[in-house]
Amino acid sequence: MLSSYGGFTVILPYKILGTGSYLPDLVIENERFTEIVETNDEWITSRTGIERRHLSAGEATWEMGLKAARRAIEMAGITTDKIDIIIVSTLTPDYSTPNTACIIQAELEAKNAFCFDVNAACTGFIQAFDIAMRYLLDPDIHNVLIVSTESLSKITDFTDRRICVLFGDGAGSIIISDQLTEPGASEPSEAPKSIYDCFIGSDGASGHTLVGKSLDAVRHPFVPKDAPEIIDRYAHPNGVYIQMLGQEVYRFATTMMPYAVERVLEKAGKTLEDIDFLVPHQANERILQSASKRLKIPMEKVISHIADLANTSSASIPICLDMEFRSGKLQRGQTLVFTGFGGGLTYGALICQL
Ligand code: UT7
Repeated sequence: MLSSYGGFTVILPYKILGTGSYLPDLVIENERFTEIVETNDEWITSRTGIERRHLSAGEATWEMGLKAARRAIEMAGITTDKIDIIIVSTLTPDYSTPNTACIIQAELEAKNAFCFDVNAACTGFIQAFDIAMRYLLDPDIHNVLIVSTESLSKITDFTDRRICVLFGDGAGSIIISDQLTEPGASEPSEAPKSIYDCFIGSDGASGHTLVGKSLDAVRHPFVPKDAPEIIDRYAHPNGVYIQMLGQEVYRFATTMMPYAVERVLEKAGKTLEDIDFLVPHQANERILQSASKRLKIPMEKVISHIADLANTSSASIPICLDMEFRSGKLQRGQTLVFTGFGGGLTYGALICQL
Protein backbone atom coordinates (compact mmCIF):
# COMPACT_ATOMS: atom_id res chain seq x y z
CA MET A 1 0.00 0.00 0.00
CA LEU A 2 2.84 2.31 -0.76
CA SER A 3 1.56 5.44 -2.39
CA SER A 4 3.29 8.59 -3.39
CA TYR A 5 2.31 11.99 -4.47
CA GLY A 6 4.29 13.99 -6.93
CA GLY A 7 3.76 17.50 -5.60
CA PHE A 8 3.80 20.35 -8.08
CA THR A 9 5.99 23.09 -9.45
CA VAL A 10 5.35 26.60 -8.22
CA ILE A 11 6.42 29.33 -10.55
CA LEU A 12 5.17 32.16 -8.35
CA PRO A 13 7.92 34.04 -6.53
CA TYR A 14 7.93 33.62 -2.75
CA LYS A 15 10.16 34.43 0.17
CA ILE A 16 10.92 32.81 3.51
CA LEU A 17 10.49 36.05 5.44
CA GLY A 18 11.60 34.77 8.81
CA THR A 19 12.64 31.73 10.83
CA GLY A 20 12.53 31.05 14.56
CA SER A 21 13.13 28.25 17.00
CA TYR A 22 12.84 27.48 20.67
CA LEU A 23 14.44 24.82 22.82
CA PRO A 24 13.56 24.33 26.50
CA ASP A 25 16.31 25.20 29.02
CA LEU A 26 16.43 21.73 30.56
CA VAL A 27 19.30 19.81 28.91
CA ILE A 28 19.73 16.13 29.73
CA GLU A 29 23.07 14.51 28.87
CA ASN A 30 23.17 10.80 27.93
CA GLU A 31 24.83 9.94 31.21
CA ARG A 32 21.69 10.95 33.15
CA PHE A 33 19.77 8.05 31.57
CA THR A 34 21.95 5.58 33.47
CA GLU A 35 20.00 6.76 36.57
CA ILE A 36 16.69 5.48 35.17
CA VAL A 37 17.38 2.64 32.70
CA GLU A 38 20.13 0.16 31.91
CA THR A 39 22.07 2.06 29.27
CA ASN A 40 25.32 3.92 28.73
CA ASP A 41 26.64 6.91 26.83
CA GLU A 42 28.70 4.71 24.50
CA TRP A 43 25.63 2.76 23.28
CA ILE A 44 23.59 5.92 22.70
CA THR A 45 26.30 7.89 20.87
CA SER A 46 27.55 5.00 18.75
CA ARG A 47 24.05 3.84 17.69
CA THR A 48 22.42 7.24 17.23
CA GLY A 49 24.92 10.13 17.42
CA ILE A 50 22.80 11.65 20.21
CA GLU A 51 24.73 13.21 23.12
CA ARG A 52 22.06 15.30 24.83
CA ARG A 53 18.52 16.59 24.35
CA HIS A 54 16.34 19.46 25.53
CA LEU A 55 13.27 18.38 27.48
CA SER A 56 10.27 20.41 28.56
CA ALA A 57 10.16 20.96 32.31
CA GLY A 58 6.43 21.58 32.14
CA GLU A 59 6.07 23.91 29.18
CA ALA A 60 3.16 22.96 26.96
CA THR A 61 3.56 22.17 23.27
CA TRP A 62 1.74 25.37 22.32
CA GLU A 63 4.01 27.50 24.57
CA MET A 64 7.15 26.25 22.85
CA GLY A 65 5.54 26.79 19.45
CA LEU A 66 4.51 30.32 20.42
CA LYS A 67 8.09 31.21 21.41
CA ALA A 68 9.45 29.92 18.09
CA ALA A 69 6.71 31.75 16.19
CA ARG A 70 7.47 35.06 17.92
CA ARG A 71 11.10 34.78 16.81
CA ALA A 72 10.10 34.08 13.20
CA ILE A 73 7.67 37.01 13.23
CA GLU A 74 10.34 39.31 14.68
CA MET A 75 12.75 38.36 11.88
CA ALA A 76 10.02 38.75 9.25
CA GLY A 77 9.26 42.25 10.50
CA ILE A 78 5.52 41.96 9.96
CA THR A 79 2.66 42.65 12.32
CA THR A 80 0.57 39.65 13.33
CA ASP A 81 -2.56 41.04 11.67
CA LYS A 82 -0.80 40.40 8.33
CA ILE A 83 -0.71 36.62 8.92
CA ASP A 84 -3.35 34.93 6.75
CA ILE A 85 -2.87 31.32 7.83
CA ILE A 86 -1.28 29.57 10.81
CA ILE A 87 -0.42 25.92 10.21
CA VAL A 88 0.92 23.90 13.12
CA SER A 89 2.50 20.49 12.62
CA THR A 90 2.53 18.36 15.75
CA LEU A 91 1.90 14.83 16.92
CA THR A 92 1.91 15.96 20.54
CA PRO A 93 -0.86 18.59 20.84
CA ASP A 94 -2.08 19.68 24.26
CA TYR A 95 -5.77 19.58 23.35
CA SER A 96 -7.86 17.78 20.76
CA THR A 97 -9.67 21.11 20.45
CA PRO A 98 -8.85 23.97 20.18
CA ASN A 99 -6.08 22.97 17.86
CA THR A 100 -2.57 24.22 18.59
CA ALA A 101 -2.70 26.72 15.71
CA CYS A 102 -5.80 28.40 17.20
CA ILE A 103 -4.12 28.64 20.62
CA ILE A 104 -1.07 30.27 19.05
CA GLN A 105 -3.34 32.59 17.04
CA ALA A 106 -5.01 33.77 20.26
CA GLU A 107 -1.66 34.45 21.94
CA LEU A 108 -0.32 36.33 18.90
CA GLU A 109 -3.60 38.20 18.39
CA ALA A 110 -3.30 37.22 14.73
CA LYS A 111 -6.99 37.95 14.27
CA ASN A 112 -7.04 37.71 10.45
CA ALA A 113 -5.56 34.22 10.28
CA PHE A 114 -7.35 30.93 9.85
CA CYS A 115 -5.72 28.08 11.66
CA PHE A 116 -5.32 24.34 11.51
CA ASP A 117 -2.99 21.56 12.61
CA VAL A 118 -1.46 18.78 10.52
CA ASN A 119 -0.09 15.52 11.84
CA ALA A 120 2.27 13.58 9.62
CA ALA A 121 4.61 12.80 12.54
CA CYS A 122 8.20 13.67 11.62
CA THR A 123 7.21 14.55 8.03
CA GLY A 124 4.77 17.19 9.33
CA PHE A 125 6.89 20.23 8.50
CA ILE A 126 7.34 19.12 4.87
CA GLN A 127 3.59 18.66 4.50
CA ALA A 128 2.82 21.99 6.17
CA PHE A 129 5.28 23.77 3.88
CA ASP A 130 3.68 22.22 0.79
CA ILE A 131 0.18 23.18 1.97
CA ALA A 132 1.40 26.75 2.55
CA MET A 133 2.82 26.96 -0.97
CA ARG A 134 -0.51 25.87 -2.42
CA TYR A 135 -2.44 28.48 -0.44
CA LEU A 136 0.01 31.15 -1.59
CA LEU A 137 -1.25 30.58 -5.14
CA ASP A 138 -4.52 32.18 -3.95
CA PRO A 139 -4.35 35.94 -4.63
CA ASP A 140 -5.93 36.66 -1.22
CA ILE A 141 -3.27 34.79 0.77
CA HIS A 142 0.07 36.52 1.37
CA ASN A 143 1.69 35.38 4.62
CA VAL A 144 1.63 31.89 6.08
CA LEU A 145 3.06 31.12 9.52
CA ILE A 146 4.17 27.52 10.00
CA VAL A 147 4.94 26.27 13.50
CA SER A 148 6.28 22.78 14.14
CA THR A 149 6.22 22.10 17.86
CA GLU A 150 6.71 18.84 19.71
CA SER A 151 6.85 17.56 23.28
CA LEU A 152 7.92 14.01 22.61
CA SER A 153 8.60 13.65 26.34
CA LYS A 154 4.80 13.46 26.83
CA ILE A 155 4.57 10.23 24.85
CA THR A 156 7.91 8.71 25.87
CA ASP A 157 8.08 5.77 28.26
CA PHE A 158 11.05 6.66 30.47
CA THR A 159 11.28 3.06 31.65
CA ASP A 160 11.93 1.80 28.09
CA ARG A 161 15.61 2.19 27.20
CA ARG A 162 14.94 1.47 23.51
CA ILE A 163 12.82 4.64 23.28
CA CYS A 164 13.58 7.15 26.02
CA VAL A 165 17.12 8.00 24.91
CA LEU A 166 16.00 8.88 21.38
CA PHE A 167 13.69 11.87 21.72
CA GLY A 168 13.80 15.56 22.61
CA ASP A 169 11.42 18.54 22.78
CA GLY A 170 11.42 21.85 20.89
CA ALA A 171 9.82 24.01 18.23
CA GLY A 172 10.70 25.62 14.91
CA SER A 173 8.82 28.15 12.84
CA ILE A 174 8.92 29.95 9.49
CA ILE A 175 6.90 32.57 7.65
CA ILE A 176 6.48 32.13 3.90
CA SER A 177 5.21 35.07 1.91
CA ASP A 178 4.46 36.23 -1.62
CA GLN A 179 5.16 39.82 -0.51
CA LEU A 180 8.63 40.43 -1.91
CA THR A 181 8.91 44.13 -1.27
CA GLU A 182 9.99 45.31 2.18
CA PRO A 183 7.54 47.74 3.82
CA GLY A 184 8.33 51.27 2.47
CA ALA A 185 10.49 50.04 -0.46
CA SER A 186 9.35 50.20 -4.08
CA GLU A 187 11.48 47.32 -5.41
CA PRO A 188 12.18 43.86 -3.96
CA SER A 189 15.56 43.93 -2.16
CA GLU A 190 16.63 40.57 -3.61
CA ALA A 191 16.02 38.47 -6.67
CA PRO A 192 12.68 36.69 -6.20
CA LYS A 193 12.84 33.01 -5.32
CA SER A 194 11.03 30.73 -7.70
CA ILE A 195 12.45 27.23 -7.27
CA TYR A 196 9.99 25.04 -5.43
CA ASP A 197 8.97 21.44 -5.74
CA CYS A 198 7.78 18.74 -3.40
CA PHE A 199 7.52 14.95 -3.35
CA ILE A 200 5.50 13.35 -0.56
CA GLY A 201 4.52 9.74 0.10
CA SER A 202 2.90 7.47 2.66
CA ASP A 203 3.03 3.78 3.51
CA GLY A 204 0.06 3.14 5.79
CA ALA A 205 0.63 -0.61 5.66
CA SER A 206 3.81 -0.09 7.72
CA GLY A 207 2.02 2.05 10.31
CA HIS A 208 2.47 -0.60 13.01
CA THR A 209 6.23 0.03 13.08
CA LEU A 210 5.81 3.36 14.89
CA VAL A 211 2.73 3.74 17.10
CA GLY A 212 1.42 5.94 19.91
CA LYS A 213 -2.19 5.76 21.03
CA SER A 214 -4.56 8.73 21.26
CA LEU A 215 -8.06 8.80 22.81
CA ASP A 216 -9.69 5.48 23.67
CA ALA A 217 -12.43 4.06 21.45
CA VAL A 218 -16.08 4.82 22.19
CA ARG A 219 -17.50 3.91 25.64
CA HIS A 220 -20.68 5.99 25.71
CA PRO A 221 -23.75 4.93 27.77
CA PHE A 222 -25.69 3.76 24.70
CA VAL A 223 -23.21 1.12 23.57
CA PRO A 224 -25.28 -2.12 23.37
CA LYS A 225 -24.26 -4.81 25.84
CA ASP A 226 -23.69 -7.27 23.00
CA ALA A 227 -21.56 -4.83 20.97
CA PRO A 228 -18.44 -6.44 19.55
CA GLU A 229 -15.24 -5.89 21.40
CA ILE A 230 -13.32 -2.77 20.43
CA ILE A 231 -10.53 -3.52 18.03
CA ASP A 232 -7.33 -1.83 19.07
CA ARG A 233 -5.63 -1.88 15.68
CA TYR A 234 -2.17 -1.28 17.07
CA ALA A 235 -2.55 -2.82 20.51
CA HIS A 236 0.60 -2.46 22.51
CA PRO A 237 1.24 -2.70 26.21
CA ASN A 238 2.14 0.88 27.00
CA GLY A 239 -0.74 2.74 25.35
CA VAL A 240 -0.03 6.41 24.75
CA TYR A 241 3.71 5.91 24.78
CA ILE A 242 5.54 5.50 21.50
CA GLN A 243 6.39 1.99 20.47
CA MET A 244 8.76 1.45 17.59
CA LEU A 245 10.25 -1.39 15.59
CA GLY A 246 13.53 0.48 15.34
CA GLN A 247 15.25 -1.58 12.68
CA GLU A 248 12.23 -1.52 10.35
CA VAL A 249 11.89 2.24 10.66
CA TYR A 250 15.64 2.53 10.10
CA ARG A 251 15.38 0.56 6.84
CA PHE A 252 12.43 2.69 5.72
CA ALA A 253 14.32 5.90 6.49
CA THR A 254 17.52 4.92 4.72
CA THR A 255 15.54 3.92 1.62
CA MET A 256 12.80 6.54 1.42
CA MET A 257 14.67 9.72 2.35
CA PRO A 258 17.20 9.40 -0.49
CA TYR A 259 14.41 8.23 -2.81
CA ALA A 260 12.31 11.32 -2.04
CA VAL A 261 15.32 13.60 -2.54
CA GLU A 262 16.09 12.01 -5.92
CA ARG A 263 12.45 12.32 -7.01
CA VAL A 264 12.13 15.97 -6.01
CA LEU A 265 15.37 16.90 -7.77
CA GLU A 266 14.21 15.11 -10.89
CA LYS A 267 10.87 16.97 -10.80
CA ALA A 268 12.58 20.30 -10.33
CA GLY A 269 15.09 19.57 -13.11
CA LYS A 270 17.98 19.99 -10.66
CA THR A 271 20.96 17.89 -9.68
CA LEU A 272 22.76 17.50 -6.36
CA GLU A 273 25.32 20.04 -7.58
CA ASP A 274 22.55 22.67 -7.58
CA ILE A 275 21.92 22.09 -3.87
CA ASP A 276 23.74 24.15 -1.25
CA PHE A 277 22.52 22.16 1.76
CA LEU A 278 20.37 19.18 2.63
CA VAL A 279 18.37 19.77 5.83
CA PRO A 280 17.09 16.34 6.89
CA HIS A 281 14.86 15.22 9.74
CA GLN A 282 17.12 14.47 12.71
CA ALA A 283 16.50 10.95 14.00
CA ASN A 284 19.83 9.17 13.88
CA GLU A 285 23.28 10.26 12.69
CA ARG A 286 23.73 6.89 10.99
CA ILE A 287 20.60 7.55 8.89
CA LEU A 288 22.07 10.90 7.79
CA GLN A 289 25.40 9.25 6.92
CA SER A 290 23.62 6.57 4.94
CA ALA A 291 21.62 9.19 3.00
CA SER A 292 24.80 11.15 2.34
CA LYS A 293 26.51 8.05 0.97
CA ARG A 294 23.60 6.94 -1.18
CA LEU A 295 23.01 10.41 -2.60
CA LYS A 296 26.75 11.07 -2.95
CA ILE A 297 26.33 14.36 -1.14
CA PRO A 298 29.20 15.11 1.28
CA MET A 299 28.35 15.32 5.01
CA GLU A 300 29.58 18.95 4.96
CA LYS A 301 26.44 19.74 2.96
CA VAL A 302 24.14 17.81 5.33
CA ILE A 303 22.93 19.82 8.33
CA SER A 304 23.11 17.78 11.53
CA HIS A 305 22.31 18.82 15.10
CA ILE A 306 21.29 15.36 16.21
CA ALA A 307 24.01 15.36 18.91
CA ASP A 308 22.36 18.27 20.75
CA LEU A 309 18.69 17.87 19.84
CA ALA A 310 17.96 14.14 19.61
CA ASN A 311 14.76 13.46 17.67
CA THR A 312 12.28 16.36 17.93
CA SER A 313 9.96 14.91 15.25
CA SER A 314 8.41 17.51 12.93
CA ALA A 315 10.24 20.36 14.71
CA SER A 316 13.70 19.10 13.77
CA ILE A 317 13.93 20.55 10.25
CA PRO A 318 12.75 24.10 11.07
CA ILE A 319 14.90 24.14 14.24
CA CYS A 320 18.00 23.25 12.16
CA LEU A 321 17.00 25.76 9.48
CA ASP A 322 16.71 28.54 12.04
CA MET A 323 19.90 27.63 13.90
CA GLU A 324 22.00 27.62 10.75
CA PHE A 325 20.33 30.66 9.17
CA ARG A 326 21.11 32.64 12.29
CA SER A 327 24.66 31.22 12.47
CA GLY A 328 25.28 32.39 8.88
CA LYS A 329 25.93 28.93 7.44
CA LEU A 330 22.64 29.06 5.55
CA GLN A 331 22.31 32.24 3.55
CA ARG A 332 19.81 34.10 1.40
CA GLY A 333 19.72 32.85 -2.16
CA GLN A 334 20.87 29.34 -1.35
CA THR A 335 18.96 26.34 -2.65
CA LEU A 336 17.97 23.89 0.07
CA VAL A 337 16.40 20.46 0.18
CA PHE A 338 14.39 19.45 3.25
CA THR A 339 13.64 15.77 3.71
CA GLY A 340 11.88 13.76 6.37
CA PHE A 341 10.27 10.45 7.28
CA GLY A 342 8.31 9.20 10.24
CA GLY A 343 5.16 7.72 11.72
CA GLY A 344 2.39 6.75 9.34
CA LEU A 345 4.70 5.81 7.82
CA THR A 346 5.27 9.00 5.88
CA TYR A 347 8.14 10.51 3.96
CA GLY A 348 8.88 13.44 1.71
CA ALA A 349 11.30 16.00 0.36
CA LEU A 350 11.02 19.54 -0.93
CA ILE A 351 13.36 21.90 -2.70
CA CYS A 352 13.19 25.63 -1.98
CA GLN A 353 15.27 28.79 -1.83
CA LEU A 354 16.17 30.74 1.26
O1 UT7 B 1 11.73 9.94 13.60
C1 UT7 B 1 11.52 8.64 13.14
C2 UT7 B 1 11.58 7.67 14.24
N1 UT7 B 1 12.62 6.80 14.49
C3 UT7 B 1 13.79 6.50 13.90
O2 UT7 B 1 14.19 7.02 12.92
C4 UT7 B 1 14.59 5.41 14.48
C5 UT7 B 1 15.13 4.44 13.46
N2 UT7 B 1 15.86 3.35 14.12
C6 UT7 B 1 17.03 3.56 14.73
O3 UT7 B 1 17.56 4.66 14.70
C7 UT7 B 1 17.69 2.39 15.40
O4 UT7 B 1 17.05 1.19 15.03
C8 UT7 B 1 17.72 2.51 16.96
C9 UT7 B 1 18.65 3.61 17.37
C10 UT7 B 1 16.31 2.79 17.48
C11 UT7 B 1 18.22 1.21 17.58
O5 UT7 B 1 19.50 0.87 17.07
P1 UT7 B 1 19.81 -0.60 16.59
O6 UT7 B 1 21.22 -0.65 16.19
O7 UT7 B 1 18.77 -0.97 15.55
O8 UT7 B 1 19.64 -1.45 17.92
P2 UT7 B 1 18.61 -2.64 18.23
O9 UT7 B 1 17.24 -2.15 18.37
O10 UT7 B 1 18.87 -3.77 17.26
O11 UT7 B 1 19.12 -3.12 19.64
C12 UT7 B 1 20.40 -3.74 19.82
C13 UT7 B 1 20.58 -4.08 21.28
C14 UT7 B 1 19.40 -4.82 21.89
O12 UT7 B 1 19.92 -5.75 22.82
P3 UT7 B 1 19.98 -7.30 22.44
O13 UT7 B 1 18.58 -7.73 22.17
O14 UT7 B 1 20.86 -7.39 21.23
O15 UT7 B 1 20.57 -7.92 23.67
C15 UT7 B 1 18.67 -3.75 22.65
O16 UT7 B 1 17.93 -4.26 23.74
O17 UT7 B 1 20.71 -2.86 22.03
C16 UT7 B 1 19.80 -2.90 23.13
N3 UT7 B 1 19.41 -1.53 23.45
C17 UT7 B 1 20.11 -0.76 24.30
N4 UT7 B 1 21.21 -0.95 25.02
C18 UT7 B 1 21.66 0.05 25.78
C19 UT7 B 1 18.35 -0.84 22.97
N5 UT7 B 1 18.34 0.38 23.50
C20 UT7 B 1 19.40 0.47 24.33
C21 UT7 B 1 19.92 1.49 25.15
N6 UT7 B 1 21.04 1.25 25.85
N7 UT7 B 1 19.33 2.70 25.25
